[in-house]
Amino acid sequence: MILSSVIETIGKTPLVELSRIRDVLKLDGRLLAKLDYLNPGFSKKDRAAKETIEAARARGELAKGQTVVELTSGNMGTGLAIVCGVLGHPFVAVMSEGNSEERARMMRALGAQVIMVPQAKGSKPGEVSGEDLALVDVEAQRLTKELSAFRADQFERFENTQAHETGTAPEIWEQSGGTITAFCDFVGSGGTLGGCARFFADHDVRCYGVAPDNKEHPIQGGGYDMPDLIHLKTANLAGTETVSGQDAAKYAQLLARHEGIFGGYSAGANLAAAVQLLRGPEAGGVVAFLVCDSGLKYLSTDLWSEMHAQ
Ligand SMILES: Cc1ncc(COP(=O)(O)O)c(C=O)c1O
Repeated sequence: MILSSVIETIGKTPLVELSRIRDVLKLDGRLLAKLDYLNPGFSKKDRAAKETIEAARARGELAKGQTVVELTSGNMGTGLAIVCGVLGHPFVAVMSEGNSEERARMMRALGAQVIMVPQAKGSKPGEVSGEDLALVDVEAQRLTKELSAFRADQFERFENTQAHETGTAPEIWEQSGGTITAFCDFVGSGGTLGGCARFFADHDVRCYGVAPDNKEHPIQGGGYDMPDLIHLKTANLAGTETVSGQDAAKYAQLLARHEGIFGGYSAGANLAAAVQLLRGPEAGGVVAFLVCDSGLKYLSTDLWSEMHAQ
């Protein structure tokens, strides 16, 4: 089959059983990983980018050739750069200097203009805080006004959750033959967890948030310590698993070494949380999670330089 553009390759990612890790860790239950790092922008955020831009164009809210602006940790921006590039919209990504440099390079290669915002006083490179993100938001708001642009607004717009309610979650349900009993996801905007939780609510799948155990952490893409996320307001979550930055790295390394799956920090955080669930409230169950992005996005970070996994 010949597709009309790369946008059509977004979603429908494979679901893989982690039986090697299950055996190494002697777990009671099953782990299923959804390989969203195989999307064209190498992250799950391609789904939200596609849904948001296509819906805004269909509604007439985004005019032909109009500029798009978004605050991003790099992944939403990469998805938007791809979708906007193909559909003919100039795209401006606003990102914290705390996010890894390869993300900015990739967005520029895809045609985006990338504005880097200095971190708040006291913040560390590689560790983007809620405060850092607030500074990025101020700049994104200013640019949206100045350029009369469309703001993709992943923290506000419904399409961010919709992409996962109508895509990610039903795909997992169908691919697993309706066998999963729990799902967990590291929270950034909460779009993935909120959208999946809406679908899974009708299928008796318990949904858990994943959060860092510390305000300062290396898990890019989330863990901003925002208690009032719109996308999680109506989600009926079973609980939240906390994970240390060191465990996120250790489990990302386990995933690479034993399963050949090269994910980023948040994939490691999700796996660590899924293992905690099988060792706790979900013992004997089937836990699904996302490999949110590619380990290639972290070659300049400590993720692959310090080996934590045995
Ligand atoms: C690598 C990574 N993991 C997790 C998340 C969090 O996903 P969500 O915004 O759907 O909560 C993001 C969001 O940008 C991300 O880039």
